[in-house]
Amino acid sequence: VWGHFDDANLVGMVGVQRESHAQLAHKAIIWGMYVDAAHRHRGLGRALINHGLVYAADVLGVRGVNLGVTTSNTVAMALYQSLGFRIYGTEKGFLMIDGVLHDQHLMCCDLPRP
Ligand SMILES: CC(C)(COP(=O)(O)OP(=O)(O)OC[C@H]1O[C@@H](n2cnc3c(N)ncnc32)[C@H](O)[C@@H]1OP(=O)(O)O)[C@@H](O)C(=O)NCCC(=O)NCCS
Repeated sequence: VWGHFDDANLVGMVGVQRESHAQLAHKAIIWGMYVDAAHRHRGLGRALINHGLVYAADVLGVRGVNLGVTTSNTVAMALYQSLGFRIYGTEKGFLMIDGVLHDQHLMCCDLPRP
């Protein structure tokens, strides 16, 4: 997990985790992508996920990374697509918030082989 700090305050984070089962361990997932609202649109989100992708490729050595994003989240999707992520599926009713169902896109990004 990486964080971006403004003095002592955590203002952005992203997590990268390799899949645990041996037959899935050539992939990692990205989770917990978040930038504090007052610090958005300054490139922090892009810098954080770029860091995660470099870690996934160079340190974990995985072939690709997957993530999920709510279909209404056009800002996050634009960021992911600009980095080479593509939608490979859509899960209907993934989340239920206050009784309302929300769909999520499943996205993947292939990483260069060493
Ligand atoms: C998604 C999120 C992490 C982006 O963080 P950020 O620091 O604002 O992003 P950046 O400033 O690095 O911008 C990266 C890209 O996001 C997109 N983006 C950012 N702000 C945008 C806006 N207002 N409208 C449309 N696209 C926008 C653009 O593609 C932008 O790339 P560009 O600067 O080259 O145009 C942030 O909005 C956030 O934390 N949202 C709430 C939590 C969330 O949605 N997490 C993702 C869950 S899957």
